[in-house]
Amino acid sequence: MTDRKGIILAGGSGTRLYPITMGVSKQLLPIFDKPMIYYPLSVLMLADIREIAIITTPHDQDQFIRTLGDGSQWGISLTYIVQDSPDGLAQAYLLAEDFLAGAPSAMVLGDNIFFGHGLPDMLAEARRQPEGGTVFGYHVADPERYGVVDFDSAGTVRSIIEKPENPPSSYAVTGLYFLDGSAPDRARRVRPSARGELEITSLLESYLADGLLSVKRMGRGYAWLDTGTHGSLLDAGNFVRTLQLRQGMQTGSPDEVAFQMGWIDKKALLERASTFAKNDYGIHLRALARETDH
Ligand code: DAU
Repeated sequence: MTDRKGIILAGGSGTRLYPITMGVSKQLLPIFDKPMIYYPLSVLMLADIREIAIITTPHDQDQFIRTLGDGSQWGISLTYIVQDSPDGLAQAYLLAEDFLAGAPSAMVLGDNIFFGHGLPDMLAEARRQPEGGTVFGYHVADPERYGVVDFDSAGTVRSIIEKPENPPSSYAVTGLYFLDGSAPDRARRVRPSARGELEITSLLESYLADGLLSVKRMGRGYAWLDTGTHGSLLDAGNFVRTLQLRQGMQTGSPDEVAFQMGWIDKKALLERASTFAKNDYGIHLRALARETDH
């Protein structure tokens, strides 16, 4: 089977975070000590994905390239693709069709932050699924802001509805989608919604109609953080800060994941650490290199 490839969707207008995002892309804003996109990137890397396309607006692409480069510092390959206008999440599969070249994919939204002890296992299971799609349902207090799962009385998924006025459940579909190689073909059949977007939920409905969609519940042991408002952005940063201070470990560090996966060696990690020698992130990476044998 072709290796699964990754997509990070990091475009969009970012108007909800104006005036901050008038000059800088939302996905490059800080979540405590790292740019937001480091967190979803680390998730794809934890899923053992090494070929990743990053979709941005035309005007923000340079900043992403400056921040992330070609990925070689982490032993991965990063490709950059432009989305001319924010026409919807499902469009990502059309834009990335050549990059995917028929391969299955994992797409993550560049503003989605996940944390949880069981994450690597959950990702590995989704990764292994050869056909169809896997998405994750997460219990939230405000489901009307998301794509929401409608379960029947037996717990089988009936449909997935984008931002319903009367949510049929409290389970939101997170912004992490494992889909097979048919995603671009299916995306081509998606018609724009009333708000003019190619909705991801319509693409998921196509898998569901064929009996090929699995919705896994991401339980209370996981954190799926919101970064959509000024307050939740600050909360997400504070969450990461609290966790890292207490544990003395990093969350959302592509450097750490690359080292743990064996994609970079100690020398490369120390080199990265020296780039950040003046701050705690660099100090942490240096300590990690010293306390590990490989
Ligand atoms: O976060 C999970 C939710 O993401 C899902 O539950 C929803 O089903 C899904 O539609 C999406 O809802 P949002 O309201 O969060 O979508 P938003 O328009 O904010 O876009 C999500 C991210 O994707 C955001 O960082 C901007 C980026 N984006 C969005 C669009 C529409 C793009 O890069 N290109 C686009 O065309």
